[in-house]
Amino acid sequence: MGQIEAQDVEYLFQGRVIISETNLKGIITYANRKFCEISGYDKEELIGQAHNIIRHPDMPKEAFEKVWSTIQGGQIWHGLVKNLRKDGQYYWVETEILPSKDAEGTIIGYVAARKAASRKDVQETSEMYKKMKEKEL
Ligand SMILES: Cc1cc2nc3c(=O)[nH]c(=O)nc-3n(C[C@H](O)[C@H](O)[C@H](O)COP(=O)(O)O)c2cc1C
Repeated sequence: MGQIEAQDVEYLFQGRVIISETNLKGIITYANRKFCEISGYDKEELIGQAHNIIRHPDMPKEAFEKVWSTIQGGQIWHGLVKNLRKDGQYYWVETEILPSKDAEGTIIGYVAARKAASRKDVQETSEMYKKMKEKEL
């Protein structure tokens, strides 16, 4: 993490759902073709890596703490995420992250599905994240 220099350039996209799966520790175990296209990585570069490979420096710590407490508690987290592409550009996604469970209901990993976020949601959430981030400093 941190090797990629974030550029203030948004990568806009449309189309199919972006899917990834992780193990209990957040290591990527599956990435669909759309995830590769939007993040700018090949499948081989993603599988086995921590999901924070696409973490953007503008994302507040608190946002991911909430993600983890929600999904570890067996619930679905829904919100917006600003992600960092391999080329340094960023992209906003409306995201759902949920636990995957075995027949006994034990959490065995996590799944994320995302689509392009609306402009209104990006506007609102980026202001909120900016304020959260400022409190961190
Ligand atoms: C299924 C799943 C999908 C995730 N998707 C993203 C994502 O798209 N972008 C991101 O920055 N973090 C994502 N995370 C959270 C990361 O695991 C990580 O907590 C986050 O990037 C913050 O990095 P840090 O924990 O090293 O501070 C995801 C986690 C899970 C379990």
